[in-house]
Amino acid sequence: MIFNEKRVVLKDGKEVVLQSPKAEDASLLLEYINGLSGETPFILRTPEDCTDTVEDEEQFIKSCGESPYNLMISAYYGGKIIANSNLKFNKRSKIAHKCELAIGIRKEFWNLGLGTALMAALEEAAKDFGCKIMTLIYIEGNERALRLYTKCGFTEFGRLPCGTKMSDGSYVADVYMFKNI
Ligand SMILES: CC(C)(COP(=O)(O)OP(=O)(O)OC[C@H]1O[C@@H](n2cnc3c(N)ncnc32)[C@H](O)[C@@H]1OP(=O)(O)O)[C@@H](O)C(=O)NCCC(=O)NCCS
Repeated sequence: MIFNEKRVVLKDGKEVVLQSPKAEDASLLLEYINGLSGETPFILRTPEDCTDTVEDEEQFIKSCGESPYNLMISAYYGGKIIANSNLKFNKRSKIAHKCELAIGIRKEFWNLGLGTALMAALEEAAKDFGCKIMTLIYIEGNERALRLYTKCGFTEFGRLPCGTKMSDGSYVADVYMFKNI
């Protein structure tokens, strides 16, 4: 699935382009995820997990673009990918009304309203698909994510205790949220 270009002006005046990544941007997407994995403990990948090659990433971008059940929206600024988000839809009719989102932004661009803009774009895409419920999971302690998701109308509906093992060996809960759209 492809998200067509949309321009967003951040709180500091920078203009960012939201669009689905292209296969030729595979190295930019890798640079983004490798960079972010070292900037926050609140995504699932550690720097050690970042072993994908440019070819792997190219294949992944192509398969998302061709799939009617997977959408990626990246944010481009200054020739780089500075954020990425995705929506996973369901093919089966009993669960086609639900989709799950994920979002990540490079540290330099936190607190500038980009998360809010990406959430709006994802919600628009979910509605276009015909979804009625959006879900997400965040790692306990991620206060900025909680603020963003609450502001965007999401509500907690449960926790998986010890769902995530942090790099220091401690266990924290996975927090599940949903929004009716
Ligand atoms: C979490 C994340 C997506 C938020 O995106 P963002 O662009 O920073 O979000 P926004 O700027 O749109 O909104 C963030 C809100 O959190 C608030 N905030 C910032 N730091 C905060 C903190 N420590 N505690 C609580 N709220 C905080 C901001 O003030 C803002 O609220 P406001 O719009 O009412 O002022 C982004 O920071 C990120 O990608 N972090 C690393 C990866 C990650 O955690 N991904 C989520 C995994 S579930």
